Amino acid sequence: MQEVRVAIVGMGIGKANALAITRNPRGRVVALCDLLEERMVEFAADLPEPVQMFTDYKEMCRSSDIDAVFVGTPNQFHVPVAMEALRHDKHVLVTKPLADGEGPAKELVDVAEASGLVNMMSLSTRFSVGVQHLGQMSQRGEFGEIYYARARSIRRQGIPAWSPGFILKGGGAFRDMGVHVLDSAWWLLGMPEPVSVTGVAGAKFGPLGKGYFGKGTPPAPDYYSKFAADDYGGGFIRFANGAGLQVESFWASHQPGDVNIELFGTEAGAQLRPLTVYRMNGDEEENVTIDVPENANLLAWDNVAAHFIDSILDGTPCAAPLRHGWQVQRMMEGLLKSAATGREVRL
Ligand SMILES: NC(=O)c1ccc[n+]([C@@H]2O[C@H](COP(=O)([O-])OP(=O)(O)OC[C@H]3O[C@@H](n4cnc5c(N)ncnc54)[C@H](O)[C@@H]3O)[C@@H](O)[C@H]2O)c1
Repeated sequence: MQEVRVAIVGMGIGKANALAITRNPRGRVVALCDLLEERMVEFAADLPEPVQMFTDYKEMCRSSDIDAVFVGTPNQFHVPVAMEALRHDKHVLVTKPLADGEGPAKELVDVAEASGLVNMMSLSTRFSVGVQHLGQMSQRGEFGEIYYARARSIRRQGIPAWSPGFILKGGGAFRDMGVHVLDSAWWLLGMPEPVSVTGVAGAKFGPLGKGYFGKGTPPAPDYYSKFAADDYGGGFIRFANGAGLQVESFWASHQPGDVNIELFGTEAGAQLRPLTVYRMNGDEEENVTIDVPENANLLAWDNVAAHFIDSILDGTPCAAPLRHGWQVQRMMEGLLKSAATGREVRL
């Protein structure tokens, strides 16, 4: 096989993934799938070649003209769509979070690993220029032992107002945004085994129709009255190697927006934004700032697409398998369970 023929399910974040696949010389987007035909028709015009369109992912998975499937539906449908694709021998690339709960995430991982097909998380933060730069430094040992990290994703008014999947059970701020910085911080820590988590979470804005994207234009009450998720969460994760991670996620707050990760290592520390390394140069404190290219956003998607395609065509070991998504899901669900029960959760 010289190229990978990919089908894209979900015309939201599916678009960024699809365009990155088409920018790769060995990637083709050959099919789209969404419940809403007009979203497919509109997006198809941006693609370099004609595509097949499906409103039923099961029918799409039966096509022998498709090698791989990107899953970008609301969280609640990631597992059924990816399972169906695997059942039909398609490689899968799944957006974050892996699932809407830990049980389905583990079931999918088991099926994916038994299949022998490439199974990968589409992680735009982990594959971003800044996180990759810190990851390479970490792998070269430049931080020494990273024994502590802080990760946060905070919006002032950023509750999604366009898809109830976000605000229903299985959605929520932590599975939407916290998941990105949690995954990246855990990866930068060297993916240690999590042993316990304690946290608080709740909904202070969403159920009241406050804090939604689009300042001053709250969604209608019949949208926000269905709110059944968290709009904030924060907590602490302990790892088997003694490291600790403080993680926070706010869809809405009276705080400035911020997405950041801070690393505390024995030889050096770092923060993601602005990308800076802190260390000693002899007796002098040294702060090294690293330039990030202007098109960093596009590069993250290109990195995801390239790695998925290389894993399929060249047998490159997948650096972000669904198993990682399951580990992150365990930590997220543990934090939310701790918040609900008021107790520390052992993982
Ligand atoms: N940076 C990122 O990696 C990133 C960014 C945004 C969203 N996401 C993830 O993408 C997912 C979708 O979020 P979004 O913002 O794109 O939402 P969205 O509502 O804009 O798009 C989802 C699309 O999926 C379609 N859909 C729903 N159920 C379907 C089904 N059974 N079969 C086919 N299509 C179906 C909907 O009609 C909709 O067009 C979420 O899981 C979210 O966490 C990831």
